[in-house]
Amino acid sequence: MKINELKICYKVRSHSELSQEELSLLKSATEAATKAYAPYSHFRVGAAVKLANGEILSGCNQENAAFPSGLCAERVTVFYANAKFPDIAVETLLITVLDEAGEYRKNPVPPCGACRQVLTETEFRQKQPMRVLLVGKDEVLEFASASDLLPLIFSGNELL
Ligand code: THU
Repeated sequence: MKINELKICYKVRSHSELSQEELSLLKSATEAATKAYAPYSHFRVGAAVKLANGEILSGCNQENAAFPSGLCAERVTVFYANAKFPDIAVETLLITVLDEAGEYRKNPVPPCGACRQVLTETEFRQKQPMRVLLVGKDEVLEFASASDLLPLIFSGNELL
């Protein structure tokens, strides 16, 4: 038997270390979170992407009384970006969550498994990494590539 070990590296940053461009993304994701349709969970997630053409787009979670029919903020945003600009890479995705009082949640919230699957396939599709920033009240986690969040992904290659 052999044991393989997988290691991921990510940066832990503070808000004061965010660049102007990252602050613009945060503003956009925060505004989007205030527009979340989350009457069931009251968990308001905002996401914003910076595209290779300079565009910033944002989105938020959309819930539904038939629970699985809703969609997370990350997928709303990335699908929107890919629908609008199918050939333009998503360079950075920033995600944040607001609590009921409109404050950032203390801990950065990581994307769910289904979102990680979609984000990683988006990287395959665009043939370049998508940087992911998870923003909490006290710290920002930065992943150089969405695939860092999903080792051993199931990809289209498995279907060949
Ligand atoms: N949610 C997101 O928008 N992104 C995630 O990565 C995790 C969960 C949403 C889905 C649902 O509307 C609410 O948060 C609670 O799960």
